[in-house]
Amino acid sequence: MALREPRAPEPSSSELAGEAERLADKGLADLGWQDAELERAARLTWKINRLKAETNTIIPAHVYQRPEVLLGAADFVGDSYKLAKTCAESKAARVVFCGVRFMAETAKVLSPEKEILLPAPEAGCSLSESISAAQVRGLKKEHPGAPIVTYINTSAEVKAESDVVVTSANAPKILRKLYAEHPKIVFIPDAMMGRNLALELGKKLGEELIIWNGSCIVHENFDSASVEFYRRMYPGVKILAHFECSPGLVSAVDYMGGTGDMMKWVAEHKAPAYMLITECGLGDLARTRFPGKVFVPMCRLCPYMKATDLSRILRAMERPAASQRIQVTAGVRERARRPIERMFELAEDGSSS
Ligand code: 13P
Ligand code: SF4
Repeated sequence: MALREPRAPEPSSSELAGEAERLADKGLADLGWQDAELERAARLTWKINRLKAETNTIIPAHVYQRPEVLLGAADFVGDSYKLAKTCAESKAARVVFCGVRFMAETAKVLSPEKEILLPAPEAGCSLSESISAAQVRGLKKEHPGAPIVTYINTSAEVKAESDVVVTSANAPKILRKLYAEHPKIVFIPDAMMGRNLALELGKKLGEELIIWNGSCIVHENFDSASVEFYRRMYPGVKILAHFECSPGLVSAVDYMGGTGDMMKWVAEHKAPAYMLITECGLGDLARTRFPGKVFVPMCRLCPYMKATDLSRILRAMERPAASQRIQVTAGVRERARRPIERMFELAEDGSSS
């Protein structure tokens, strides 16, 4: 059924002031936002939230999104796993996905009946672009019988060729289970994450764990030399790095994990300061969630994640361009669904490791 595409009215001056105050209280004031910026964002978030309620729309947002998106427009914020799961369980008719293309495609695969809109249609991902479905078919020929375990940061076509999907929140747990039955696993496409997994699980690269040479342009360049420098500058600082960072860096930090686990670790530990080596959005969010904690900056921006802003979200809600509507062919959808559902089963079977 075609959805109505209404236009939001302009907020009155008192509505605008109220919305600007809400944004400040949500945490934008903690990030240093001033009146003029708050008012500019408030005009857009007021309209977005009004349209959301009128059109049975939800807005999921990845933690790397801009703070005004996370704090002013999103209904739920999380890592790749949480977003995939929550979107699939939602009863909304329309999803305006604040993230990158592979995330919106995953939502479409799991909920073909929903209209999935991606405000920034060019928002790809260097990992996702590093491997094609034909290359996965090549790997299957080269390693017959070895399950293809695919990071969620891939296209729907690549997932359709895979056995199990994983995210940074569950990759070690799922691989451990698969190794109980398979001597060899192919993990695609992130080489850094593959090398970190081999070290964590004690598996031989190239024999027991076959990896691809994809990388994340945000995480591949963090350098372990700076870790020692910051430890001297901030005695007692706890340093956390994302799973997509290099094994050299990971061996120098206090904790490695996905974004959801990094936030949990910060919540559960007491330290004089924390450094989150990942995309800058996580640090911004952490500052608003833990205003009493000190965060030492060390981050890079993801150009794909930062392509979404409030005006593009509003545009997608009011008059979506064809390029903002996510389409996945029925054949690909049907084949990509199984490895994602397999991830849900293996990640949530109640066992801890
Ligand atoms: P997670 O939030 O699932 O850890 O993933 C990070 C990422 O790079 C997503 O693009
Ligand atoms: Fe892709 Fe890296 Fe950006 Fe995540 S941070 S979307 S893995 S390029």
